[in-house]
Amino acid sequence: MAKTYISHWRCPSNIAIVKYWGKKENQIPCNASLSLTLSESYTELNARLEEKTNDDEISLTYFFEGERNAAFEAKFLKFLNKHQVNFPFLKTHHLVLESSNSFPHSTGIASSASAFGALALVLCDFYEQTQGKTISDNWQQTASHFARLGSGSACRSIFPAWAQWGQIDADKASSNEYAIPITEVHDNFKIMHDAVLIVDDEPKKVSSTAGHALMNKHAYAEARFVQANQRVAELREILKSGDLDAFVSLTESEALTLHAMMMTSADYYLLMRPNTISVIEKIFAFREQSKVPICFTLDAGPNIHLLYPEVYKTEVENFIRHELSDLVKSIIFDRVGQGPKKLT
Ligand code: DP6
Repeated sequence: MAKTYISHWRCPSNIAIVKYWGKKENQIPCNASLSLTLSESYTELNARLEEKTNDDEISLTYFFEGERNAAFEAKFLKFLNKHQVNFPFLKTHHLVLESSNSFPHSTGIASSASAFGALALVLCDFYEQTQGKTISDNWQQTASHFARLGSGSACRSIFPAWAQWGQIDADKASSNEYAIPITEVHDNFKIMHDAVLIVDDEPKKVSSTAGHALMNKHAYAEARFVQANQRVAELREILKSGDLDAFVSLTESEALTLHAMMMTSADYYLLMRPNTISVIEKIFAFREQSKVPICFTLDAGPNIHLLYPEVYKTEVENFIRHELSDLVKSIIFDRVGQGPKKLT
């Protein structure tokens, strides 16, 4: 009887504090990045591997939120074809993927990070089930490596809480090939909240892929890459020491630097919307007056991630309700997460 294998994983998205922006061949980043893994924003991937008789080529059926999705199917098929030597079972089995996200589209939450993270985890799991041994001595590292090959930021989603991707001189264990978990974290940063303030939910005007490419001939590229690597090292120290004010400055400067890179590209573009600026100004004023160390970060889009530690939750959520809710379309309350989970 034909054998079927099942694998079901939940993989969260993440939000970068130090941003990855610019890449080389084979998804090698131009600079290191460091992110916070989320909890409530995730992809669930239910995968089935069905034995088949013809083994000519990889075959895949992909459903997104209950419906066959040709665009995603083609994207995943391309990825599987490229990396099939690592997953021998792909030639002898048909793969069925059923994927769904806990969060809506175009909201400033990276769905490619959670989707490719989940796919990498499912593939490593199928390797173990079909070959009778783990894919490597460090399967999380291997999953992170394959996630990166799908989408750069996905490699950081394999780890809980804080994760770094990209080599820096200060840490010989860091790598451009995969992310590593950052575990030396002060209590101040242990329960970090992220309120995602949706200013605009239109699809992105410029894809991240196109944005990364614009860094190739960017006038400020080299200085930016050096700065980002230094900031990863600085952020590691900040996370260790618990210095909230330093965290605020570094986080906001990173967000604005990312957008400054877009605005100063040869094909310049602007992703912030008027209400992005209004919200940022309200955040500055609230921080000035209350001395509460909240801060914002931005992804490659107009929506704002408002970060605040657990101890300030009530005050900040009152501020959001009273001063920001009229400026935004919707809000997703998220927080630091424990990383991917295998579901049964
Ligand atoms: C601004 O990981 O989406 O979110 O590797 O082309 O899939 P690809 O790009 P992607 O880029 C993320 C860019 C960013 C910053 C970050 O997450 O570090």
